[in-house]
Amino acid sequence: MSASVSSSGSAAVSISGNRFVIVGGASLVGSATAAELLDHGASEVVLFDNFAFGSEAAIAHLKDHPRLKLVRGDVMRMADLLRVTEGAAGVLQLAAYMTLSMDRDPWGGLDVNIRGVQNALEACRANKVAKVVFASSNATYGYGPGVSGELVESTPFHSVGAPPAAILYGASKIIGEQLCRDAYRKWGQDYVVLRYSTVYGERQHYRAANALYIIETIDRVKRGEAPQVFGDGSETKHFVYVGDLARANRMAFESAATDVAVNTSGPAPVTTLQLVELVTELAGGGAKPEFVGSDGKVRLTSGGAFRIAHEAAKDAIGWAPEVDMREGLRRLIEWRDGNEGKGA
Ligand SMILES: NC(=O)c1ccc[n+]([C@@H]2O[C@H](COP(=O)([O-])OP(=O)(O)OC[C@H]3O[C@@H](n4cnc5c(N)ncnc54)[C@H](O)[C@@H]3O)[C@@H](O)[C@H]2O)c1
Repeated sequence: MSASVSSSGSAAVSISGNRFVIVGGASLVGSATAAELLDHGASEVVLFDNFAFGSEAAIAHLKDHPRLKLVRGDVMRMADLLRVTEGAAGVLQLAAYMTLSMDRDPWGGLDVNIRGVQNALEACRANKVAKVVFASSNATYGYGPGVSGELVESTPFHSVGAPPAAILYGASKIIGEQLCRDAYRKWGQDYVVLRYSTVYGERQHYRAANALYIIETIDRVKRGEAPQVFGDGSETKHFVYVGDLARANRMAFESAATDVAVNTSGPAPVTTLQLVELVTELAGGGAKPEFVGSDGKVRLTSGGAFRIAHEAAKDAIGWAPEVDMREGLRRLIEWRDGNEGKGA
């Protein structure tokens, strides 16, 4: 099958009738994006994953889909990538270690987040894959006292005062983005970088430091315990609903945009206290939150109130977030309460 690029020669890749590979696909974002691409007529969606973190449970809802294929493989093995990307029109590169995993195993994380991205790009070159969408992160702005105000795509990286693993993660995503730019310059590889803010939604996991506020609060409420807020609760977080991100990934393939990096964040930021109160209410709990000090886990702090601006994504790929936190959390809790979520 040959990858179809639009006749205008732009970087647009239609979803319908094309084959897509999601590298690191047995994941929170991968499972939602696979469903989105299949719904829009992709001829085949391949989830490529070594199951370092992903699980069969994360993709159980898709496993009987006739156009979905699961391939076990490792981004550190070129042969695996070359085989799986053959005939693909688009590759979504998700495989990564996030901050908590980076904290446990920095070299494993740097290998996957840097060499793994380069390997995926090289495989796309060899197989003439028309477009790559690379999952970057708002971690490219860093953490700690320097991060406040409106975070736009040109906001610099702040590395002072944050845990090493968070800085290694953010820096590795900056390098991944630059490897995409390099591939564009060296061999004309079309790509779009999406800088996701913290993702939440159905098939939520425990691997993203900021999303722990959501999933741990649900767990505590369900056990009848008081929810916990770390610090005074005034700290800002900016999340994005996973279904909105799946749509952003699809639109990044479909749009004519290339050689660009844009933020994809939800409608508005929240404070940790607002978040914990909202999750508590939606999960059916009534207890007031307990304010606690450190629990020894890696927590990500910012210097002050901030908002991750997503207006550039509208210009580049026509995307804006649609699902606010009340609705997105309601869907997450409904999934968790259902049969599928109980095994997660
Ligand atoms: N979850 C978030 O809050 C968030 C925020 C910003 C950016 N991101 C980025 O979005 C992407 C997807 O996030 P997610 O939450 O769905 O992550 P996830 O942890 O659910 O998925 C990552 C997937 O990569 C796979 N993987 C790891 N090493 C691999 C290897 N060597 N070979 C093949 N597969 C491998 C894992 O098994 C896992 O399924 C990641 O790149 C992440 O850095 C996530």
